[in-house]
Amino acid sequence: MDTRPIGIFDSGVGGLTVINKVLRLLPNENIIYFGDTARVPYGNKSKETIIRFSKEIVKYLLGFKVKLIVVACNTASSLSLETLKRSFSVPVVGVIKPGVEEALKVSRNKRIGVIGTEATISSNTYKKAIENIDKSFFVIQKSCPLFVPLVENMHLYDDIAVRVAENYLSPIFNKGIDTLILGCTHYPLLKNVIQRIAGRDIELIDSSMAVARHVKRLMERRNLIGGSIRPYTKFFASDNTENFSKLAKIFLRKSITARRVIF
Ligand code: DGL
Repeated sequence: MDTRPIGIFDSGVGGLTVINKVLRLLPNENIIYFGDTARVPYGNKSKETIIRFSKEIVKYLLGFKVKLIVVACNTASSLSLETLKRSFSVPVVGVIKPGVEEALKVSRNKRIGVIGTEATISSNTYKKAIENIDKSFFVIQKSCPLFVPLVENMHLYDDIAVRVAENYLSPIFNKGIDTLILGCTHYPLLKNVIQRIAGRDIELIDSSMAVARHVKRLMERRNLIGGSIRPYTKFFASDNTENFSKLAKIFLRKSITARRVIF
């Protein structure tokens, strides 16, 4: 039994959608969560900057002797995962591959849409990952830069969210896709609005459950499974823990307290 914690990070609150699912499958694990609220959003930053931020966070998490790191951010997974894997000996899991595998299983007509931050979409990571597995899939991508600020400002169901979503999504929903990958860990909070516009024929892929299953399999393979009787989840944020805690309550459906960290 390995009681060391799992480290999970995101640019902000988005990765909390992943925590939920990891805890559902691995309820006896200790978790350290870091949200880089001082530097969110990552989606409009360069690759170099995202790699630098990600490395700093991994070093911080290693201070807690984490046994595994989950990059619960599509932007950081798209741009820094390979560098993190090369730079650190701890196992590092990203969110792209599990989401892609899920989408390929679900799609019947082989036409998939991907939405994400500007950085994720322009990196083409999703498109390449899908085509690496099966070239016959048609992939249409769209960046939705206002979605993260909408979520961070709690516009989850209102008219503003609907109008922004319609504007971004109508052009890709005209392309006959039957599956849409929510390629940003913030987006599951806009699921209701997105599904309303998508209609019943388009299946939304929220990769968080697929990521949790992937984490569990990897931990079983590497003998990393813990079994804490009273497991803890500790939250750290690089700025404004009050707002982080407020949003965390919506994501996790319970109150938490986050501690502020200054690098
Ligand atoms: N939640 C993050 C993601 O999955 C990104 C948000 C951002 O910082 O732009 O891509």
